[in-house]
Amino acid sequence: TYVVTENCIACKHMDCVEVCPVDCFYEGENMLVIHPDECIDCGVCEPECPVDAIRPDTEPEADRWVDFNRKYAEMWPVITQIGVPPENAKEMDGVPDKLEKFFS
Ligand code: SF4
Ligand code: F3S
Repeated sequence: TYVVTENCIACKHMDCVEVCPVDCFYEGENMLVIHPDECIDCGVCEPECPVDAIRPDTEPEADRWVDFNRKYAEMWPVITQIGVPPENAKEMDGVPDKLEKFFS
């Protein structure tokens, strides 16, 4: 599966949702997640993310995000159309400790 990782937090560009063939992105306040059991591993969303937040779970840093993605995918509503990203999305790219500081 592919998963959304920490750098999505407070960036939330949403380009990713436009290309997913199975509509498995779910929307929280300031980030999205992928439902790992619905993702068909096509990989087309990965290059769409301007901040490189979508990673395959075969990468060690991404593997620890699988349970997180599943948990919130089961709580949040599905998102299939791009919305308006946060005003400071560009400045938030790469900011450290986003999970602790900015996740809501
Ligand atoms: Fe959707 Fe494919 Fe991305 Fe999985 S890898 S979330 S199926 S676009
Ligand atoms: Fe997040 Fe990137 Fe999608 S910032 S909302 S994973 S395009």
